[in-house]
Amino acid sequence: LPAFLTQRHGELHVEDVSLDALARAHGTPLFVYSKAAMLQALGAYQRGLAGRAHLICYAMKANSSLAILQTLVRAGCGLDIVSGGELERALAAGCAPERIIFSGVGKTRAEMRRALAVGIGCFNVESRAELAVLDEVARAAGRRARVSIRVNPDVDARTHPYISTGLKDNKFGIAHDEVIDTYRQAAACESLDVVGIDCHIGSQITQAGPYLDALERVLDLVEAIELTGTRLHHIDFGGGLGIDYHGDTPPAADELWAKLLQRLDVRGFGDRQIMIEPGRSIVGNAGVCLTEVLYQKPGEHKNFLIVDAAMNDLPRPAMYQAYHRIEPVRSRTDTTALTWDVVGPVCESGDWLGRDRELAVQPGDVLAVLSAGAYCMSMASNYNTRGRAAEVLVDGAQATVIRQRETAADQMRLETPLP
Ligand code: LLP
Repeated sequence: LPAFLTQRHGELHVEDVSLDALARAHGTPLFVYSKAAMLQALGAYQRGLAGRAHLICYAMKANSSLAILQTLVRAGCGLDIVSGGELERALAAGCAPERIIFSGVGKTRAEMRRALAVGIGCFNVESRAELAVLDEVARAAGRRARVSIRVNPDVDARTHPYISTGLKDNKFGIAHDEVIDTYRQAAACESLDVVGIDCHIGSQITQAGPYLDALERVLDLVEAIELTGTRLHHIDFGGGLGIDYHGDTPPAADELWAKLLQRLDVRGFGDRQIMIEPGRSIVGNAGVCLTEVLYQKPGEHKNFLIVDAAMNDLPRPAMYQAYHRIEPVRSRTDTTALTWDVVGPVCESGDWLGRDRELAVQPGDVLAVLSAGAYCMSMASNYNTRGRAAEVLVDGAQATVIRQRETAADQMRLETPLP
């Protein structure tokens, strides 16, 4: 179990709070996060980069709930955003605009205008067409845009193809052999200030190798770019460090950074500001999703355990065949364990949370789906007109509801019924 989860008197706790008690008090499905676990994960990056000019921009797409953002911003994070909506959330959470960086392949003119008006720190530009549009929008607004260009280092992150982004045939970043021309184009743009370079090779990376490969490739590019007369103030290595879902053993952030910084120093770039955009590794293993067992449906080939959380709450198994551990919050001795497929109420065969899980449970019991802090709530939907779950943030013995359960009325609020 991750350290923030403990068994006390046969009951699972997040920090000092009983999960069974939280489920009874607030209902299910319920996301529960540990503040300490988040700050600990962030701390590993902070230690790794201590003593260097750096900015950790939490990739808020992983979990963009306001209280989570506030927690991380107050702990020193900037934010990596990918939409106008995320920009408004970032500002609402109190993030200083100059600590916001804007990633993504499809920024609209309206999003650029708003980001320039509030004065964000940097645009991570992903195409030559986007450079031209950003220059035009900035000029029209009478502003200057600080830009970094996302390069595609063409390294294999060795992760799931849907979350691998650093290979040639991905839609992301500027291909290696076009990078120099793109920097020349950027330098010639009247309203752009070229300040950095960035890359992001994928997500749920569990080895140091792809990062080290990407670093060398990016530094080759930095050398070549600087020969054209543009000095790069910062180098942004993106996010991507994986977490332990099912016995995965990703490197610790501080150990990985010790290696990367050493290479950076050897190659003479130790003086540059380091930026990173971690998401999953900050919040993923700081949260669980509680769900109640509704029905047992034993069968000839499969036993189905039907629970009240579904693919709309936890889309990762349906989308990526992702594995999330599932643990009862109270252990039972009066029931024999059976092998269950844990499935939700949504009308899709893909609506499963876990397959072939050995569990001793009865209807009414509460299960915790682990590693649910990242890319669960932020990817939740209203499919089947299911309201999105409530969220609780635990700090020691204190539990705070940070998001109420969405009602059917909330979901219909923007609709206009016919007369
Ligand atoms: N920076 C950029 C430009 C990104 O595209 C991403 C994630 C990150 C940073 C943060 O990556 P992280 O540290 O979280 O790996 N929904 C998928 C993950 C999609 C990741 C998209 N980009 C999942 O649930 O596995």
